[in-house]
Amino acid sequence: MKKNKISKNWVNKQRRDIYVRQSKVHGYRARSAYKLIEIDEKFKIFKGGLSVIDIGAAPGSWSQYTLKAAKSGKLISIDLKKMEPIGNSVQIQGDFTEERTQEEIKKNINGKVDVVMSDMAVDTTGIKDIDSIQTGELCKEAMFFAKDLMKENGYFISKIFMGGTFNEIVAEGKKYFKEVKVFKPKSSRKDSKESFIICRKIR
Ligand SMILES: C[S@@+](CC[C@H](N)C(=O)[O-])C[C@H]1O[C@@H](n2cnc3c(N)ncnc32)[C@H](O)[C@@H]1O
Repeated sequence: MKKNKISKNWVNKQRRDIYVRQSKVHGYRARSAYKLIEIDEKFKIFKGGLSVIDIGAAPGSWSQYTLKAAKSGKLISIDLKKMEPIGNSVQIQGDFTEERTQEEIKKNINGKVDVVMSDMAVDTTGIKDIDSIQTGELCKEAMFFAKDLMKENGYFISKIFMGGTFNEIVAEGKKYFKEVKVFKPKSSRKDSKESFIICRKIR
């Protein structure tokens, strides 16, 4: 398929998409907000005063929802890309997989945090196994980082792609957390292999 045909299809899909329209009405920067909202509706994670780390945060809709739902808590948002400011959150621009970015995050937290969440994704190739492996590696890195920084009852939430690495990631999650669930929100596109892992209670 030619490139301009693909982008025309993408534009048409966006126009028809109810979550794209809703995000404009509610002032969210991306339709991704509704995935986190559905996760929160199901698992009842966010409440006032939580401290949250949002990895792969740009353009910022998860962080926007977090600030609304975890009023007066602390939020640190990290991304490769620069983001427009979001309330009083701390923003770190950098590659999460680099040690210096992780050190900078640690410098910005006092004690342990309630939620670490990652919506990090590389640009998808459309090749199922490659997308699953690349996103899986980012998820594992975030999980490894999170387990030492989280309160005992804290939550770790991460995007994963169904495919070759799925079982390995769930097994890794079970090594560090007592509760591990996988959930695909309705707002996650049906034709996408995307899903989310929700882990709770550090072992
Ligand atoms: C699906 S978007 C996140 C959308 C976001 N949750 C929201 O609600 O606006 C994925 C993001 O992951 C970021 N990302 C990918 N690899 C990263 C890395 N190694 N370090 C930091 N951010 C990364 C991308 O730059 C991109 O902005």
